[in-house]
Amino acid sequence: MNALVAPPVLPGAGLARLRGFVTNLAELIDSTRGEREILESGAKLLARLVNQDDWLPEAYAQPDPDRYRQYLLHCDARERFSVVSFVWGPGQGTPIHDHRTWGLVGVLRGSERSERFVRNPDGSLKHAGTDVLHEGEVEAVSPRIGDIHRVSNAETRHASISIHVYGGNIGAIERATYDLDGRAKRFVSGYANTELPNLWDRSVRA
Ligand SMILES: [Fe+2]
Repeated sequence: MNALVAPPVLPGAGLARLRGFVTNLAELIDSTRGEREILESGAKLLARLVNQDDWLPEAYAQPDPDRYRQYLLHCDARERFSVVSFVWGPGQGTPIHDHRTWGLVGVLRGSERSERFVRNPDGSLKHAGTDVLHEGEVEAVSPRIGDIHRVSNAETRHASISIHVYGGNIGAIERATYDLDGRAKRFVSGYANTELPNLWDRSVRA
């Protein structure tokens, strides 16, 4: 019998959602180099991704008791963009830091606090506002619109997870953390994982 057999629907089928996101983002970046357009259209794509919480494999949703985790989910072959899941345990957060490229942050689970900083004329940093992002919401950063912030879990009793997209291989970019005096300390973040989720099994349906 030659009846068509539907492809199996496996537990990881939600990865097709992430595959769709990275292919749409690659098409967007193929079509424009304009940061404004990438952030505007990319934010819509990311909002769609984080509005469904059924696709992130457990391995990339694991908090660590000591510090937040940064799991690479995908890096463009030409390192034009990367997609990362940040997992924040209760009370966890980053130091004040920059990105040196455009970035989009979308909250998948829980909520996240982002405190923005700007430079004073003497080079020290001034707090410039706090945003709390909730599930499904997206925020942008870049050197053009404001690149220095401090991020933390806004949930006091639960882990939060946000999906970040950057205009480069963020774990390999030399960046800086800052103290309030504006003194910079160089860092390259790397990633917590050594293996990536397999987005490319097209026999697996969403
Ligand atoms: Fe950041």
